[in-house]
Amino acid sequence: MSPSARSVASPRVVSIGDFRAIAQRRVPKSVFDYLDGGAEGEVTLRESCRVYEDLTFRPRHAVAFDHCDLRTRVLGFDLALPFLLAPVGYSRLMHPVGEVGAARAAGQAGTAYILSTISGHKLENVKAASTGPVFYQLYLMGGRGAAEASIERARAAGFSALVVTIDTPVSGIRERDFRNGMKELVSGGPFQKLPYLPQILSRPGWLISFLRDGGIPALPNVVIPGKGPMPLIDVAVALAESAVTWRDLAWIRELWRGPIVVKGVLTADDARRAVDEGAAAISVSNHGGRQLDCVQPSLRALPEVVQAVHGQTEILLDGGIRRGADIVKALCLGARAVLCGRAYAYGLAAAGEAGVNRAIEILRADLDRTLRLLGCPSVAELDRSYVNVPKHWDAN
Ligand SMILES: Cc1cc2nc3c(=O)[nH]c(=O)nc-3n(C[C@H](O)[C@H](O)[C@H](O)COP(=O)(O)O)c2cc1C
Repeated sequence: MSPSARSVASPRVVSIGDFRAIAQRRVPKSVFDYLDGGAEGEVTLRESCRVYEDLTFRPRHAVAFDHCDLRTRVLGFDLALPFLLAPVGYSRLMHPVGEVGAARAAGQAGTAYILSTISGHKLENVKAASTGPVFYQLYLMGGRGAAEASIERARAAGFSALVVTIDTPVSGIRERDFRNGMKELVSGGPFQKLPYLPQILSRPGWLISFLRDGGIPALPNVVIPGKGPMPLIDVAVALAESAVTWRDLAWIRELWRGPIVVKGVLTADDARRAVDEGAAAISVSNHGGRQLDCVQPSLRALPEVVQAVHGQTEILLDGGIRRGADIVKALCLGARAVLCGRAYAYGLAAAGEAGVNRAIEILRADLDRTLRLLGCPSVAELDRSYVNVPKHWDAN
């Protein structure tokens, strides 16, 4: 067992917060802050984690059952757990196993993995690694030609759904990345990199594995016709040139013909628009507080969206989930399942695939325990009667 795998196997690792601390020790500050940080003043990031405290539980005591059923169904797929692994860009910088390891871990746990466009492993290898459903998250980076090629490859490789992220017309400004020289480190010349090198050299274990893995990867899933894979030089510029609009959705639907998830809905209006555009599911999401700062936490937006959608499409939610109890609260308010981002990515940065496995296991155990303490035998039976919701949440 590698030292990092040993570190997460310790009985003292009991919560996602413990992985965060281990990740902080293993990867350079620039990589950790890229994963951990949010946009501007990080108001939405902080609030997205804190907001779960606003809901309190209403347990049914003196109830016992042998088996606790955590299964749910998303886009027609039976999942063993009510959470999926969210798309997390640059996962291969966190650990060489990156998206392949995360997809394999998801499959082993009986759940789905969503591969980001900004990924370091070929989508075919990611799909092949998982025994579960794998979805492809689409940015129109590199133009329509590149998007068409990746949609075609995703279909041929057996991806089950397309996740179209609608909240990124430009990249949010994550101030920590600028202070840490993320751009210079990824794309600058030797002199531009120099001031930022000490933090990299202070993590020799990570550095050796990164260099052995070939250094900065190109983006193998953004292949520009006639040019080849897009270099990982300035993703922010590429994103600014690739804003997706509702009009693009018709074109994407025509090309893909499979289920589409619209990710990044925060209002009733956008939820209804996504339904009109034929979304099979939506994810209520503020991109983990990494795009527009000072938008409301997705949990807070959930009641408005549930009411607007009237069961016409499946509702997922992501943002701020660090415990199984957070997942239970989102399900009580009407989400069918949630996406976890940092919760597994801290595990990946801490110990690669072993870290993702352990993070999933901790969330699974949290869910089982929370349901038993609530007196609810299955996630399918969770509803608002198990939580106190602040009155003003329904006032919109
Ligand atoms: C490091 C990092 C990279 C991300 N990259 C993407 C991405 O490429 N595409 C996308 O749609 N969402 C991306 N997200 C957002 C996640 O899919 C998800 O919405 C968010 O992480 C949920 O919040 P949480 O991290 O608090 O769970 C990223 C999130 C993080 C933390």
